[in-house]
Amino acid sequence: MINVFGSKVGEEEIRQVTESIGKQWMGMGPKTKQFEAEIAERLHTDKFVLVDSGSNGLYMALSLLNLPKGSEVIIPSFTWVSCAQVVMMAGCTPVFCDVDIESQNITADLVKPHITSNTGAIMAVHYAGLPVDLDPILELGYPVIEDACHAIDSKYKGKSCGTVGAVGVYSFDAVKNLCMGEGGGVTSGKKEYMERANVLRYCGIGKSGFEASTHGKERWWEYNIVEPFIKMNPSDIAAGIGLAQLQKLDELQEYRKKIWDIYQEEFREISWIQTPMDADTTRGDQHSYFTYFIRVPKRDQMAKYLFDNGIYTTLRYHPLHLNPLYQSKESLPNSELLNEQGLNIPLHPSLSMEDVDKIIHYCKKFGEEMKL
Ligand SMILES: Cc1ncc(COP(=O)(O)O)c(C=O)c1O
Repeated sequence: MINVFGSKVGEEEIRQVTESIGKQWMGMGPKTKQFEAEIAERLHTDKFVLVDSGSNGLYMALSLLNLPKGSEVIIPSFTWVSCAQVVMMAGCTPVFCDVDIESQNITADLVKPHITSNTGAIMAVHYAGLPVDLDPILELGYPVIEDACHAIDSKYKGKSCGTVGAVGVYSFDAVKNLCMGEGGGVTSGKKEYMERANVLRYCGIGKSGFEASTHGKERWWEYNIVEPFIKMNPSDIAAGIGLAQLQKLDELQEYRKKIWDIYQEEFREISWIQTPMDADTTRGDQHSYFTYFIRVPKRDQMAKYLFDNGIYTTLRYHPLHLNPLYQSKESLPNSELLNEQGLNIPLHPSLSMEDVDKIIHYCKKFGEEMKL
């Protein structure tokens, strides 16, 4: 079966992990520090705090904003469940917003009707790595959390996605463009946010060891807990895999782009397939090609047809406002249409060119057989 998402790890990642095991140092340590420094440099940001998942990174981002309890956070409905769950966990209310049908991203115009006197923040998800048009959203005057979980290599007007809003969040889970099994990270241009993130991620411990000891050079086992918080620090095992991935990220991205361009070329001519948007390079935008998302009629039949021919596809995402947990009364037509027509077809660095040919072949054959 050809998988819809995937990674490419090899000898370099094994070497990094073996090194940590050889040194008997698997927890947070030197590799975490090195990864944070290298990724910060790549993103042109001063500081990066690595955590154990993108989901926890989003929770961290909300915590850094210190929103009053009960604040509303406007988020796209067409996104991963963590986006809403962390809002609830932070004692706030997720308010679901529609996305643009072509970009699958929120826009300022779609956000505006949801603004109330209780609005505390806006979460912008760069879907598939296509940059959200952030400037008009920033102009609305609320802190913007950039969910750059798909967008490690994306740029908005020349700046790395995740470094434009108040806080940016990344995911390094097993199938992300840069993967470490599980991992995530946070960045912000605000120094105080980053200092706080560094404290919060390890149970809110500000100082430990001799630094925290109230007895001078004795009782080094004391620690100073500054704020209530959970543990979300990463391991050096994950950070080491991340370091190896970082070395080959450009190469991995080039391969993703190659597949993306082939799909665009092959599918653009087919009238019944709506292909995804390319980034607007004229204004300095760049895509990350995390996933290839198409819209088609007879989506369910197409998914089943591809599955029966050894090709696994999926829909990311089932719109959150349709989930009973959130008791949303919103009607969001674009998200609901995407729920009926959207399909993510395989795009990842472990696909062979034969796999790509096979995927294109069966997509076209489905159209012929269904007389689309
Ligand atoms: C848009 C988006 N936000 C957040 C996350 C959460 O990241 P993680 O799986 O690292 O917790 C994901 C994961 O797929 C995602 O796609």
